[in-house]
Amino acid sequence: MPKNEIAIRFYVAGFVILALLSVVAAGSVVPVHLETLPLVDVFAFFALALSLELAEYRLSTGDARGSIAFIVHMGTTVSFGPIPAVIVTATSLVIAGTLNRREWLKNLFNVAQTVLSLCIGFLLYYALGGTVPAISFDSSAAPYLAIVLTFFAINSCAVSGAISISDGRRFVDVWFGNTWSLIVYDLIAGALGLGVAILYGELGMKGFLAVVLPIVFLRHTYLINLQLQSTNRELLDLMVKAIEARDPYTSGHSQRVSEMARVIAQEMGLSYLDVGNVSTAALLHDVGKIHEEFAPLLRKEDRLTEDERILMESHPDRGADLVGTITRLRGDVERMIRHHHENFDGSGYPGRMAGLDIPLGSRIIMVADTTDAMTTDRPYRNALPFEQVVREFDRYAGSQFDPDIVEVFKKSTVARRLVAARVIGQKQGPGEHPKKRLKLSER
Ligand SMILES: [Fe+2]
Repeated sequence: MPKNEIAIRFYVAGFVILALLSVVAAGSVVPVHLETLPLVDVFAFFALALSLELAEYRLSTGDARGSIAFIVHMGTTVSFGPIPAVIVTATSLVIAGTLNRREWLKNLFNVAQTVLSLCIGFLLYYALGGTVPAISFDSSAAPYLAIVLTFFAINSCAVSGAISISDGRRFVDVWFGNTWSLIVYDLIAGALGLGVAILYGELGMKGFLAVVLPIVFLRHTYLINLQLQSTNRELLDLMVKAIEARDPYTSGHSQRVSEMARVIAQEMGLSYLDVGNVSTAALLHDVGKIHEEFAPLLRKEDRLTEDERILMESHPDRGADLVGTITRLRGDVERMIRHHHENFDGSGYPGRMAGLDIPLGSRIIMVADTTDAMTTDRPYRNALPFEQVVREFDRYAGSQFDPDIVEVFKKSTVARRLVAARVIGQKQGPGEHPKKRLKLSER
């Protein structure tokens, strides 16, 4: 069993134990009284939670999955107390997880961390004067805020911790990547849970139904937004694949450069927005080659003539101009593409920029692009392993590459893993590495 899989099992076991302890603590503060519990109403909360869970979607920003069923989980907690809420939450999560074919360990983890978040949140709510059931907005709003904040703090940290362990990525990067863009959305949605509880408390099931509709609407909007983001990205992917279909050596190149650039940008601690921009620019860095005049140059196996070289060196400008026609990509992404062939010492093109004048994204793409070139089999050499890639980067750090980015790349375990997977993934042909100087910057 791989080391990080053992670590994940311990991690999940830790959450299960903490969740059980939190249930005991919350249950001892507000015990459940079955004789007064409105079972039909609890079942209605359960049905809503389950249907929202079943409509679960994949977050566009990472591997984490999520639904807005947490609104109902929170509402159940302050309407009926922690134990009914734990039963509603755990049952709906287990059923939805099983039907959605989620792995049992992920399912268990999801149940444990959600139950823990709810129970700790509830204990704080109760300590701050919150009641069961919640009586009015005025008296419940402040304590309820504790539930929302605690829930998101524990939930986002637990999920980011799991992804960080399994992917070997830094916790902070994962947390920002998966949480930051959604935090306002989530906090507002979480607040709706109090609305569910108060309206249910005042109007019974009629009040409950009055809140269901906006919740379903909110979920739908959420989903459409995520689908739009993913459609945009898929359209860009499609366009890049169409371009790469013309060049036998670049199949999948842009996607790999984009993935590596994203990893480096994350390791450098860039903001979520900047990481996204760098990744998009890396995906589209060679989009200028879509122009017809580049087709014969891309197919040519001999060295390019001087005129052909000059024409080829116009592809960053052509690409940036093209990308600049899309409003969302105008500006930063456009600039990163325009300067992705600038060398750190000023010997690159098209602007002969040097050092930190070169956009950071362009310097990252230069390292990611070259990594892919070096780790791709060529007719004249095999793909290079990580150690040799690092040696080449060391040799040209300061001349072609930004030395700081080279250092980040060298230390990145994720970059090392991506390179290893790429090298192993290609069938190794016979022949030695080239005796001539390595072509670091491929066209
Ligand atoms: Fe290029």
